[in-house]
Amino acid sequence: MSVQSLESVARAMIAPGKGILAADESTGTIEKRFKSINVENTEENRRAYRDLLFSAKGIGQYIGGAILYDETLRQKSADGTPFPELLARQGVIPGIKVDTGAKEMALCPGETVTEGLDGLAKRCAEYVKLGARFAKWRAVITIGAGIPSQACITANAHALARYAAMCQAAGLVPIVEPEVLMDGEHTIERCEEVTEWTLRDQFSALASQRVALERMVLKPSMVVAGASCKQQASVSEVAERTLKVLRRTVPAAVPGIAFLSGGQSDELATAHLDAMNKLGGAAWTLSFSYGRALQAAVLKAWKGSPANVSAAQRAFTHRARMNGLACTGRYSADLERQALAA
Ligand code: 13P
Repeated sequence: MSVQSLESVARAMIAPGKGILAADESTGTIEKRFKSINVENTEENRRAYRDLLFSAKGIGQYIGGAILYDETLRQKSADGTPFPELLARQGVIPGIKVDTGAKEMALCPGETVTEGLDGLAKRCAEYVKLGARFAKWRAVITIGAGIPSQACITANAHALARYAAMCQAAGLVPIVEPEVLMDGEHTIERCEEVTEWTLRDQFSALASQRVALERMVLKPSMVVAGASCKQQASVSEVAERTLKVLRRTVPAAVPGIAFLSGGQSDELATAHLDAMNKLGGAAWTLSFSYGRALQAAVLKAWKGSPANVSAAQRAFTHRARMNGLACTGRYSADLERQALAA
């Protein structure tokens, strides 16, 4: 793999019409996904599933980067090709999740702080040798009665900024992911307020830690009503409120914003991204870094059977193409029906 500058890697991850596949589920998280389709959580099943995703034909047309878990970065395709090499051949940049999870935060009931800074510089150096070109760290902000607290927002923003600095020093592009969870009954107005607060403090922390904004990708949640809120917002309201908050908080030096799906349905996640790109006028590329919204249909089609691999790959390519179109505001729900009919 040629040595590229961090800025060009960041731009390539979210090149026009492309986004990021989040396939970095930890062994515990993939167990939940496998349980839903009755597949045993063995190392070989995890390998076979990721092989299916990474070897889908032509995926590099819509996917610029894929985030892997430690185990996956070290695994190989059925023909013995290491996954980072397989991805690179497909035109997909390999990345790695480096946080060690969101843990209960002391003195802050109901809140978490993401861990993983200890030894991180050393781990980053190894990941670069294994072929990773970017990294991911996810912080979780929960909305509820009396939360989030300033303590939680500050601690998570600081950890994300320290992680981002270490990545840039090691030669990895950091994906900075402060997720405001959709869980809860809160209104969209409350989500907007908390997202603005989170991102404002995040960019202040990034500046304090000397992180070069040109060499990172932001992975935020969208501004939506809580999943249990009776009043759900329209696609256009989500798009407008999300863009408003981003304009207020994200400097134009950031090359791109790749949203997480966070539990939104596949088609809604695509429609929201498309609506933002149709509005246009954003300073940064607006793309996707979806986990569930890219994989739900794939898992359902696969069900752990080798006989279903082609159908599962078709489901993956379809979702990736829909999201690729949303990156340039060229998606429409009709395209979903047409694909079903084909
Ligand atoms: P979801 O799109 O399922 O939220 O996953 C994205 C991700 O990488 C979370 O860290």
